[in-house]
Amino acid sequence: MNLSNNKILITGGASGIGLGLAERFIQENNIVIICGRRESVLNEVKTKFPSVITKVCDLSVEKERIALYEWISENHPDLNVLINNAGIQKWVSVTDADFYESMKSELTTNIEAPLHLTSLFIQLKSLTTVMNVTSGLAFSPFAKVPVYSATKAFFRSFTLSLRHLLKAKNIEVIEIIPPALNTDLGGIGLHDAHPSVSSFIESIFEQLKEGRSELTFGTSETRLNASAEDLRNHFNAMHPTM
Ligand SMILES: NC(=O)c1ccc[n+]([C@@H]2O[C@H](COP(=O)([O-])OP(=O)(O)OC[C@H]3O[C@@H](n4cnc5c(N)ncnc54)[C@H](OP(=O)(O)O)[C@@H]3O)[C@@H](O)[C@H]2O)c1
Repeated sequence: MNLSNNKILITGGASGIGLGLAERFIQENNIVIICGRRESVLNEVKTKFPSVITKVCDLSVEKERIALYEWISENHPDLNVLINNAGIQKWVSVTDADFYESMKSELTTNIEAPLHLTSLFIQLKSLTTVMNVTSGLAFSPFAKVPVYSATKAFFRSFTLSLRHLLKAKNIEVIEIIPPALNTDLGGIGLHDAHPSVSSFIESIFEQLKEGRSELTFGTSETRLNASAEDLRNHFNAMHPTM
C-alpha cells in the first residue's frame, strides 16, 4: 500500500497498538479516523492530534457496527483503509463460573465484529486495503488466555482466506502479527515486561514499505516460520506444569 494520502479507520485506535498506528499514519500524511467505547480516551487523542477524527462505538453491538459503517459511507465515502485492530483479552479458565459469559464477549469483539465490519466496508467503492491485527498466539496458544488465543488463530485463518477472496476486488489484505507488547491489553500491568509499541511500529512501517503482507516483530517472526515440532516445543516450554 502507499503509506501516504489514505483515509484510514483504525478500530481501537485510541490506545496501545491502534494509537501507535494512528500516530505514525498521521505523521505520514494520512487522514485517520479512530473509534472505541471510551469517549474520554478518544478526546485525549484528539487533544494531542487535532487532525484525528473520532467516533464513539461499541463494536460488540451489531447495530453500532452498522451505524459506524453508515456514518462512514455518508461522511467519509473516500475511506480506503480499514484496520481491524480492536480486541480484548480475558485471563480466564474453563473452570471459572463466568467462563461462558467471558468467552462470548471475546468471540464477539475479536471475531464477530471484525468479520462483520469487513463484510460492510468492502462495499465501499474506495476501499483498497484491509489490515487485520492477529497475534503470535495464533500459532501457539497460551493457556491462561485460552479463548483469546483461539480467536487469534481463527482470525489469522480467516485473514488468509480473505486475502485470496478479495484479490478479485483488487483489495489488499495485510496481517499485522504482534508478539506480546507493552499495552494495557488484558488489564493494566499484565504486559509491562514486553517491548514497547514504538519499536514495534517502526518495524511494521519498514515492512509495509517493503510490501510485505504478513508483518511480524521479534518472537512473532519466529512463530510465523516455526515448524510443527518447534510450535509443540514452544507450547510445552510455556506450560511446564501442564
Ligand atoms: N499487546 C499485545 O501484547 C498484543 C499482542 C498481539 C496482538 N495484540 C492485539 O492488538 C490489538 C490492540 O490491542 P492492544 O494491545 O493495543 O490493547 P489495548 O490498548 O487494550 O487496545 C484495545 C483497543 O480496542 C478497543 N476496544 C476493545 N473493545 C472494543 C469494543 N467493543 N468496541 C470498540 N473498541 C473496542 C479499546 O478501546 P475501548 O476500551 O475504549 O473500547 C482499545 O482502544 C488487539 O486486537 C490485540 O489482540 C496485542
